[in-house]
Amino acid sequence: MSVSFKRNISPMFEVYQANMNWRFDLGKYEDVKLNAVKIYQMIETKQMPPPNYNPFSDDQIAMFKQWMDEDYPE
Ligand code: HEM
Repeated sequence: MSVSFKRNISPMFEVYQANMNWRFDLGKYEDVKLNAVKIYQMIETKQMPPPNYNPFSDDQIAMFKQWMDEDYPE
């Protein structure tokens, strides 16, 4: 099953959008694409979301990686 920003990535990041607006818009395709490597690094090492928030599951993290590998489908 292929992954798209609109269907899979955006809903997963939506709840955190306001918290990261100072740096980029987690709801905006271009912003997430441009910062994808850094975002992946932060979620994969469990630095983001910060420890006091619900972490992403391994499946969600793998899905983000798949989205990058498939060249960021909108
Ligand atoms: C309630 C949720 C969140 C809060 C309060 C929060 C807060 C912060 C803060 C204070 C920083 C700067 C400190 C640092 O560099 O360690 C940061 C950096 C970062 N956060 Fe978040 N964040 C949240 C969720 C997320 C989520 C869900 C993602 C990714 C999907 C994310 C991605 C990043 C990235 C990539 C950086 C590094 C930015 C840079 O180096 O310029 N954050 N966040």
